[in-house]
Amino acid sequence: MVRPVTDFESFKCGTMKNIDSATHTRGESIYLDDIPLLNGTLFGCAYPSAVAHGIIKALDVSGALQMEGVVKIFTCKDITGENQIGGIIPDEPLLADGHVHFCGMPIAFVVATTPEIARAAVKKISASIDPLPVITDPREAQRKGELIVPPRVFKMGDTDSAWAACEHVFEGSADTNGQEHLYIETQGAYAVPGENNAIKIYSSTQGPTAVQRAVCKVLGVPMHQVEVDVTRLGGGFGGKEDQANMWAALCGLAAFVLKKPVKYSLDRVEDMAMTGKRHPYSSDFKIGLDKNLQITAYEVTLYQNAGAAADLSPAVLERSLFHSTNSYFIPNTKATAYSCRTNLPPNTAFRGFGGPQGMFVIEAAIAMAAESLGVDACVIQKKNLIQTGDEFPYGQKAASEATACWQKAEQLYDIEKIKKETADFNAGSIVYKKGVALMPVCFGISFTKTPMNQARALVHVYTDGSISISTGAVEMGQGVNTKMLQVAVHVFSVDPSKIRLQTTNTGRIANTSPSAASATADLNGKAVLMACTAILSRLKAVAAEEFKQDADRIEIKNGEVFAAGKSTGCDWNKLVMTAFLKRVSLSEHAHYATPVIHFDLTKEKGHPFAYHVYGTAVLVAKVDCLRGIYEIESVKVVHDFGASMNIAVDKGQIEGGIVQGIGWMTMEELVYDAAGVLRSSALSTYKIPDIYSVPKEIAIHFLDTDKDNLAILHSKAVGEPPLMYGIGAYFALRDAIKKFNPSDVIPFSAPMTPEKVLTALYPVNNKETADAVSSKEKAVYG
Ligand code: MOS
Repeated sequence: MVRPVTDFESFKCGTMKNIDSATHTRGESIYLDDIPLLNGTLFGCAYPSAVAHGIIKALDVSGALQMEGVVKIFTCKDITGENQIGGIIPDEPLLADGHVHFCGMPIAFVVATTPEIARAAVKKISASIDPLPVITDPREAQRKGELIVPPRVFKMGDTDSAWAACEHVFEGSADTNGQEHLYIETQGAYAVPGENNAIKIYSSTQGPTAVQRAVCKVLGVPMHQVEVDVTRLGGGFGGKEDQANMWAALCGLAAFVLKKPVKYSLDRVEDMAMTGKRHPYSSDFKIGLDKNLQITAYEVTLYQNAGAAADLSPAVLERSLFHSTNSYFIPNTKATAYSCRTNLPPNTAFRGFGGPQGMFVIEAAIAMAAESLGVDACVIQKKNLIQTGDEFPYGQKAASEATACWQKAEQLYDIEKIKKETADFNAGSIVYKKGVALMPVCFGISFTKTPMNQARALVHVYTDGSISISTGAVEMGQGVNTKMLQVAVHVFSVDPSKIRLQTTNTGRIANTSPSAASATADLNGKAVLMACTAILSRLKAVAAEEFKQDADRIEIKNGEVFAAGKSTGCDWNKLVMTAFLKRVSLSEHAHYATPVIHFDLTKEKGHPFAYHVYGTAVLVAKVDCLRGIYEIESVKVVHDFGASMNIAVDKGQIEGGIVQGIGWMTMEELVYDAAGVLRSSALSTYKIPDIYSVPKEIAIHFLDTDKDNLAILHSKAVGEPPLMYGIGAYFALRDAIKKFNPSDVIPFSAPMTPEKVLTALYPVNNKETADAVSSKEKAVYG
């Protein structure tokens, strides 16, 4: 047997290359826009509302219809099934029916012979809309009773009686803005009609089943009539968990009605203007500490800016509650959360799924306490880390690595030295100031909606010994297919080149949960493990018969068959063929459902997570106190990987997550005006981190916590948790500003853009500070 020994060997030390690396670097990977088009394919483009809230009085499509090449213009009247794509709550029409609820809401869908004609035709459509009052602020929505779902409250202990016993109590507010996903591949779908009114949808989606369900509802057909196929995404980050449904449903509808293939691939500006983003949150907090700086009570009220429809907001809201105390044990906690309906595009999943918004507030509360008491925030943080056996406010007991991560970071990165160097630097510098922050993270792994924690895998072994794997996992750059392949290699012990990961397809794997919640590798990997193990045990039974041995004494190692520890001279291929000739099944469809987890919504208590992921980051920021510009110099992390099954893939997730988190906390500023129009709708007005904003140093230490956990091969989920290290960037910047201007009152408001830094450095309404600043300026300029 010929096998590339290097690759196979490297699997064992967890450094197998991402299986997509070759096609990625050659430009051969297939994304939606790379699918060869069938003859006669038509192209769609949505006509969006220019008004955030109003009643459509008239819609004029006549000019567009007259254009050569325009085939049909769909409105809500052309929908063959239900005009509804809402996932959790049916509150989201596909095409506006009389009302528009957000700027960018599709009113009509033009289908034409070329994408250029479709876009030109959209410009010729006009709608007359009677405007209604626009709400963009979640607190205003809450006051007016505009809630997506009833409020949720998580409670532990008794905060009301705890305040009296507190030595220090602080109250404040904290706001975080939204975040544009900016997946490199925009949203899109390609719908191809088949016989008997079947439709095949190629979609750039994290949730093939969600797309299937939405298309079927809009078309009014059963789910077996619609097949959804996904090769890979050029990024998702949560933005394609539910929001891919719209484009698939529009293309599906047009293909169904016109009996022609229809494709719509959004351009960047369309995508930014029409899709929802990370939820902005407004929050109020109250924190109480005893004289030893133990946090004894914490109350928080979260106002989530949901946008105009539910989308995934209720689920995102829930995760904000789950993570409202981050890595800390606080015996008396009360967290209240409102999902507030505004006239923004429906906000949606984004890496962290509400967790980061909840965590920012507790970190702000601790920062306020620290600043007021004149102690280092990390003293309070460290004292209050959750320990094994401590209870989260939702009833689950922690198996905590929080202190292990923190202590390892202290030693490994010599935090005392970092602090001293920073202090020395600040003592010797007027214009530049440095700040330090520690950011512990604790993130629960599992979909918080228990029934979603299930997955399936379909494994075929062909008679030539090659292996095909289908799962519900969607490859979106996170390397999940590589991990699936590693699981199969782990079970079969054959060369990785024998194994192919197939597209994610609803015909092969049904009723999938979206690739989300950091749980994709765990859920689908466990199903792959089960399917491969079942096939292996049948093959071992065949070998046992052949070599007259007990099946448990048969072993397949590196593609060769051993009986009682001795080589049999039979290899994998031969064994597979023997099994086939004996009419033994070489295929398996396995089903995995996460054990243990449960949650009681009536009590808001349970054990919702298979496990938690922990970590600690140390961040250093350097602010230019004349210009307000800054850099995040270093991020040093100790992260709880369990036993990483792929160091390169997992490192990539940490680095990407950190940079994305820093972007959210520092430079990415979504601006909607009072009329609900997105003003930061292009890359010229919305700044995301580029290579120059990546910290000069990102250090990642793999804390090996290979304990009994429910992670796939004990390799813990890694998708979302690292984003939250980025929160430390905000607090490191704040620390640096305070070094320049110690008496400054800085609102807890992220992102900390250079403009906000400058305002904080030079608060114009503060005479005392202004004088101090001008004397500093004199010192600098002479
Ligand atoms: Mo992810 S934010 O759970 O799609």
